[in-house]
Order: sequence, then structure tokens, then C-alpha cells
Amino acid sequence: MPHYCTLIPGDGIGPEVAEATVRAVEATGVDIRWKRAELNEAIILESGKTLPQYLLDSLNETRVGLKGPVTTPVAGGFQSVNVALRKTLDLFANVRPVSTLPGIKTRFQDVKIDMVIFRENTEDLYSGLEHEIVKDVVTSLKVITRTASHRIAQYAFEYARRNGRKHVAAIHKANIMKLADGLFLRCCREVAQEFPDIQYKELIVDNASMQLVMRPETFDVLLLPNLYGDIVSDLAAGLVGGLGIVPGANMGETHAVFEAVHGSAPDIAGQGKANPTALMMSSVMLLIHIGEPDAARRLRHAIEAVYLDGTRLTADVGGSASTGEFTDAVLRQLRR
Ligand code: NAI
Repeated sequence: MPHYCTLIPGDGIGPEVAEATVRAVEATGVDIRWKRAELNEAIILESGKTLPQYLLDSLNETRVGLKGPVTTPVAGGFQSVNVALRKTLDLFANVRPVSTLPGIKTRFQDVKIDMVIFRENTEDLYSGLEHEIVKDVVTSLKVITRTASHRIAQYAFEYARRNGRKHVAAIHKANIMKLADGLFLRCCREVAQEFPDIQYKELIVDNASMQLVMRPETFDVLLLPNLYGDIVSDLAAGLVGGLGIVPGANMGETHAVFEAVHGSAPDIAGQGKANPTALMMSSVMLLIHIGEPDAARRLRHAIEAVYLDGTRLTADVGGSASTGEFTDAVLRQLRR
């Protein structure tokens, strides 16, 4: 039986890393049929719609997507497509495994980093509720609900138990946002009680950021509201070699969309410099999700072998290979 998957190349470096990833997934031999759905700044500006109907129709049919980044204008312009997609499909859990790749040279290469970030994906300051109440005075509403907080905590703890993880750290700023982050924490504590086999601790987000840099090896599962999850993900990516390598999944009850942590990287778009590892690793998560664990394992091992060899790495991780040359090396490993 073939698998059907919506492919959203996105813009910036999106099409480059998406093409590389499609090549890698197809080289595993899995029968996957891509339903291509274009989504980029130009289409959004032309249609006036953040999410075109064909994209939603495709995802409602396939229930699974592989997505490249999409550019969002800063300080104005249209609403983030990424936020809109997560909310519309209720992709409430953003799952981001951050671990050291074998052979990669980083400032932390002597330390074994292996953590999974669970970022609440539908609310918090990403509600987009902003008002200029009088000239030059703006409020931005931070929405935290019991439903969403409980749901992400439950998801993180269940994942931890299923995957033999030992600790969950809830990260917050409830010393200042006593009501909003206080509710988030209360939900995490309630869920933690249902999982006595998993150690639970709480860290204030500023301290957590310092601890992540000082002692990254002590983190296992991180559980965060939307904004802290967004920021801490990039920080964590920096510990293991940068945004070029960290994958992600947006998981809901009915749909799943796999995408890297990184954005559209306009500074290197169209130059063949983008590192496709992050989206390839996201496709490893996708393959597991669609019931192809063997292909997932082979693709992950092929990527790791290219890193161990070290001669075909892209510039962001200290090499000089192009996106295509790195991808060719992954394909060669897959054929072995
Ligand atoms: P970015 O993640 O696009 O880039 C940050 C830095 O990391 C840049 O120097 C870039 O060259 C580098 N980088 C990122 N991915 C890389 C890769 N695969 N290989 C090599 N280098 C890589 O973040 P930035 O510049 O803040 O955002 C650019 C645009 O992307 C914005 O419009 C933002 O809204 C959007 N964005 C979209 C996301 C999504 O679609 N899920 C997520 C994050 C940002």
C-alpha cells in the first residue's frame, strides 16, 4: 500500500531542503506518493489568504505533511502561515528532538546531549491578539488554557514513558506571570502525579537557559509553553551544531506535519548552501509515524554515517559541500 503525504516545499531554502529530503526518503525504497502543495510569500500576498484551501484539502486527505519553512514578514504584513496551520489543524504538540550527531564538531562535542523539547503549539503569546489601545501603547494577550496545557503535558509524559525517558522539566516564568504560567505549571504538576515513574522538576526559563548552556547533558524532556519553547528550541539547536540539523514534528489528534526548527534562511536561499539534515531528520520522524520504522532507521544511519565520514558536510557545520553533494552522500550510504 502506498503512503500519501502532502509536500509543502515552502520558500527561501525550503524548496532546496525539501527536494533533498524527497530524494532521501525515496531512496529508502518506501512507496510514498507526494501531493505537492505550494505555499509561499508570493502566493499568500496574491491570494490574500494565509492558508489556501487546496493546502487544507490536501492535508485533510493525507493527514500527514512534510513542510519546508515559510517566510513571515517582521513587524507587520500577513499572519504567520506556520502559526495558522498549527492552529487550524490543531497540531497542539511541537516535538523537537535535540541530540548530538556522531562526528559533528561543536563547542559541546565532549558532552552527550540528548533531549526532546515539547512546545505547546496553539496558544500563549502566539494568539495574535494585539491591540493599540491608545497611540503608542500596545497590549499583546498571552492566552493560557487548562485544556491546552494539560494536553501538552500529558503528551510529553506519555512520550517520556514510551521512550524510556527519565526526567521531565517544566519551564516557566510563574514567578512573574503568576496566573498564566501558574496555570500551565498546575497542569504540569497534575499530570506529573499520574507518572510517578518519571522524575519531574520545574525551572524558571531564565535559569533554564543558563543551565542548558552550562549543563546540557542534564536535560532529558523539556515541557514549555509556546514562546519559551520557540526560543529554547533555537538555543538547544545551537548546542548541537545549529539550526541546520534539528528536526521537528507538529502533532495533533488527526494530523501530523513534520518540519525543521529552522526558518526560510533568506541569507543563504538559492545558493545551494542549505543543510538539509534538519528536514531529512524530520522525515525520519515522519517515516516512524507512517509505520515505516525500518526505513526511518536506515535513513538516520545513512545521515549519521555521512557525519562520521565528515567529508561531505555543508558550511554551517564546518564543511564545504553543497546541499546536493551532501544529499548524494546520504544516498550513497543508503545504497550500501
Ligand atoms: P532562520 O532559521 O531562517 O535562520 C537563522 C540562521 O540560521 C541564518 O543565518 C540561516 O542561514 C541559518 N540556517 C537556518 N537553517 C539553515 C539550514 N538548513 N542550513 C544552513 N543554515 C541554516 O531564522 P530567521 O532568519 O530568523 O527567519 C527567517 C524567516 O523564516 C522569517 O520570515 C521567519 O518568520 C521564518 N521562519 C519560519 C519558520 C517555519 O516556517 N516553521 C520557523 C522559523 C522562522
